[in-house]
Formats: sequence, C-alpha cells, structure tokens
Amino acid sequence: MSDKKAQLVLDGREKPIDLPVYEGSTGPSVIDVRSLVSEGVFTYDPGFVSTAACDSNITYIDGNAGILLHRGYPIEQLAEKSSFLEVSYLLLNGDLPSPQELASFEEKIRYHTMVDEQIHEFFKGFPRTAHPMAMLSAVVGGLSAFYHDDLDIDNADHRMQAAIRLIAKMPTLAAMCYKHGIGQPFIYPQNKMSLAENFVNMLFGTPCEETTVSPVIAKAVDTLFLLHADHEQNASTSTVRLAGSTGSNPYACLASGIAALWGPAHGGANEAVLDMLSKIGDESRIDEFLLKAKDKNDPFRLMGFGHRVYKNYDPRATVIRGICAEVLDELGVDNDPLFKIARKLEKLALEDDYFNERKLFPNVDFYSGIILKAMGIPTSLFTVIFATGRTPGWIAHWNEMLSNPYKIGRPRQLYKGETKRDYPA
Ligand code: CMC
Repeated sequence: MSDKKAQLVLDGREKPIDLPVYEGSTGPSVIDVRSLVSEGVFTYDPGFVSTAACDSNITYIDGNAGILLHRGYPIEQLAEKSSFLEVSYLLLNGDLPSPQELASFEEKIRYHTMVDEQIHEFFKGFPRTAHPMAMLSAVVGGLSAFYHDDLDIDNADHRMQAAIRLIAKMPTLAAMCYKHGIGQPFIYPQNKMSLAENFVNMLFGTPCEETTVSPVIAKAVDTLFLLHADHEQNASTSTVRLAGSTGSNPYACLASGIAALWGPAHGGANEAVLDMLSKIGDESRIDEFLLKAKDKNDPFRLMGFGHRVYKNYDPRATVIRGICAEVLDELGVDNDPLFKIARKLEKLALEDDYFNERKLFPNVDFYSGIILKAMGIPTSLFTVIFATGRTPGWIAHWNEMLSNPYKIGRPRQLYKGETKRDYPA
C-alpha cells in the first residue's frame, strides 16, 4: 500500500473523488475504484483490458518486455531446470519443493491418477465424433458428483486434496477423450511411469501391446504441460475464479474454465494454427494469407499471432520453438512441410510492417500444434492438452482466492436498452 492518490474530476460535481493508488511488488500501479459505486458511477472496461480483478502472488507477466515469472522464477529457467509437477507444487505452495517434498507430491499425484469406473459410463453416452473439449468439460464437471458432500472448500487440506486429484486425473481423462473418439479401450495409468510417460502411454498404448515412450517425447510433453501451467488472469482462469467466487464445487469451476479455454481466441488457437497451416498448404501461398490477415474486410486472423498481454515475443514461444526442432528431429520428420510453412510464415510476418506496428508476435500456440501433430496427436485433442497443462494454474488461483477474504464476482454494465415502458393495454 502507498499514500499515493488519484483524483477523479467529474463534470458537474464540485469536489473531485479521491481514489487510493496501490503498488504491487512489480508492475503497474492500480487505482482502487471500489468507492465509485457509492458515488453513483461505474468504471467502463469491456474485455477488462485495464482492470485488475484481484490481488495475486502467483504469476507475473510483463507483456512489453516478454517476461513471465511463476512465484518470481522466469519461465525459461523453469522450462530448463524444473518439471511440470515441480512447477505445479510451486504454483500451489509459493516456493520450490525440497527433494523430499517433491517426491511426496509426486507420490500423491501418482496414487490419484485413476478415475472412478463410473466415469467410463459417462463416455459411453458421447458420440464417437464428439469434440474432446466437449467431453472433457463434461467429465471434469462430472467429478463434482463424486467429490462434493465431503468437500469443505473452507478447509485448506480439502482444497489441496482437490488440487491433487485434478492434476492427477486430468491426463487420464484427456487420454480417455481420445480413446473414446477412436473406439479403443481406455488404458489405465501405470504407477511405474512419470506423469508425461503415463499420458503418452494412455494415448497410444493398447491392451494388446506395450508402448515404449522415448525420453525426448516424454520430456517434450512434460515441458509443454509446464509452459501452459499458468498465465495469471487469462479468460479461463478468470472464469474459474468467477465461478469459484460463488462458493461452487472446484471440479465444476474447472469445467467452466475448460469451456472458456475452448474458444479459438484462447486455448483453441493451437488447433486453429494447424488448420490454418493446412489451408495455406504450400509456401507459395503464404503471401496470400498474410494479405487476408491484414484486410480489415476479411475476418481471417493469423492464428498463433498476437496476444492480449504480450506486445513482444511470448517467452513460452521461444522455448517451444526449440523443443519443436528436437521433437521433429527425434521423430525423423524435420522436413515436415507444415513446419516449413510455419517457419517461413513466422519470418515473413515478423518482417511485415502491419504485424510490427501492432506488436503481433508468435504466441505459445504457434509451435505447440506442430509438435503435437508430429507426435501423432490429432488436432482436436490439442486444446485438451492445453487444459491438462493449465490445471495447476486454475486450481492454484481458485485456492489462492479461497485462502483470503473474497467477494462474489459481479460486474456492472453501461445500460443502453429501453427505459421503463408499460405493457400494451
Ligand atoms: N492477425 C491479424 N491481425 C491481428 C491479429 C492476428 N492474429 N491479432 C490482432 N490483430 C490486429 C487487430 O485486427 C487489431 O488491428 P487494428 O488496430 O488495425 O484494428 C490489432 O491487431 C489489435 O488487436 P486486438 O484484437 O484489439 O487485440 P486483443 O488483445 O483484443 O486480441 C488476441 C488478442 C490473442 C485475441 C488476438 O491477437 C488474436 O485473435 N490472435 C489470434 C488467435 C490466437 O493466436 N490466440 C492465442 C492467444 S495465446 C494463447 C492463450 O493465452 O490463450
């Protein structure tokens, strides 16, 4: 807190309104506008571009400098030295674990990866053609039916138990979404495997044949999950917080986050990038698509470019770009035509005034889709993988909100509809 104040001068009012100004540990100052409602005015900020909706200690982004910190640690260092589960622990607890704490956390996750057999029945109700995100949001919401009566959201241990269950079960459910779509039996998680190995095995294993998961692929999957683990108050995390602010069951809150993630402007962009690269089809057609992206009369946007917060290179994209080359090399597909189109498209867009002036750089989704496609993961599963990675972030924000005094989220509006009128006699 500081003694700084802002003054709001309103036409027609004698006295200005004093508003306190707060400083975070880093980042922009924040003007506290909460008293404005009692003055009979609201702030107006569609898309929440200038609004801090909460206090948080979890993640910091400096979009102009291309910086992303989790609990103070730069994402590049975490991607190089840490693991998805270690970062999950960090997001939830505030500090990196000791080796013993990490081993204990990993053990807890390992022993919660199975889902109730009744969940298998849920899947039977879905058409084989159902979008995996439709199934994922439904089954995660469905978990609230299994974990509700005994769950006290005001109890910190219960909240941590929900976090462990969600982080552990999400890869299992994500793989089940895939297996249902292709009509193969579900593969149970194996306690001898790491989280990433398990996920690949549950995706590609069958009861007839054991799979061997290459260490390069397991590491790439783990890093992909890690890079998606949190991103402060994005649309899906804000949705989880908003749903959680009513006191709802955490599994239901996560289901609402999954629904928000699905859209192409958010998590669905990785799927949209691959669709776009396939449509471009050949390096010779890149210019044509760049023109479409710049044409204001054409709704087409360059998928995987631009970000609400990053007005510089997305640091996650830099890491993913490196993994992409490693994975394609490991799989022997480094001549993949889509990867070549992606590289050339990135180069041409970065040289283009339109993208430079608007600070439109490749985001995390630009390369993640190419990696996943090279691994043989179908496009419709990409956002499910994003959701699996984002789970610790969602639940850490939910837990942070509930660990402190909080208010139900309830925005107001600028009403432009009819004023009172009488029903015709
Ligand atoms: N292609 C072409 N033009 C673009 C693009 C794009 N991808 N993104 C923004 N613009 C233009 C936009 O038309 C506008 O131009 P003008 O000033 O002439 O009207 C200007 O750039 C600012 O765009 P905006 O829509 O006001 O920016 P925003 O902050 O509201 O939108 C965004 C951010 C991510 C929704 C947008 O950049 C976009 O639609 N990108 C493509 C989808 C995508 O890759 N999404 C993944 C985001 S990263 C993963 C995640 O965190 O979810």
